Amino acid sequence: MKLLFINGVNLNMTGTREKGVYGSQSLEQINKEIAGHFKNDECEFFQSNIEGEICAKIQSAQCDGIILNAGAYTHYSIAIRDAISSVKIPVVEVHMSNVHAREDFRHVSVLSAVCKGVVLGFGKNSYILAGESFKL
Ligand code: DQA
Repeated sequence: MKLLFINGVNLNMTGTREKGVYGSQSLEQINKEIAGHFKNDECEFFQSNIEGEICAKIQSAQCDGIILNAGAYTHYSIAIRDAISSVKIPVVEVHMSNVHAREDFRHVSVLSAVCKGVVLGFGKNSYILAGESFKL
């Protein structure tokens, strides 16, 4: 199975920013653990702070499933929502933190309705749980 893990804006700062929320491991370390978990699958990792690059990556994806943590774009990017709607590949929305236990503006996702499902609140394991969902 080919899985594409996309991380959006500010996720490159994981391990440095708000360690109490996102942990102290870097995104690179987390991606290594994910690749180790899915060692019998093909994993691709992509991160961008740029909304249009995330849209382009979704549009050109050739994989069985996309695991997407769009970061703050989750809460307002109609462009990323439309990119998800424009492809046939299923997308699972992911958040490391439990966004519903945080500020009100994080309770809204403009992406969830066009995603296959949502996994949130399990730290780095949110990515693994989302990836596993494609195998059910
Ligand atoms: C996040 C939650 C978002 O609200 C926030 O803007 C992020 C990270 C998470 O993984 O918990 O950047 O998507």
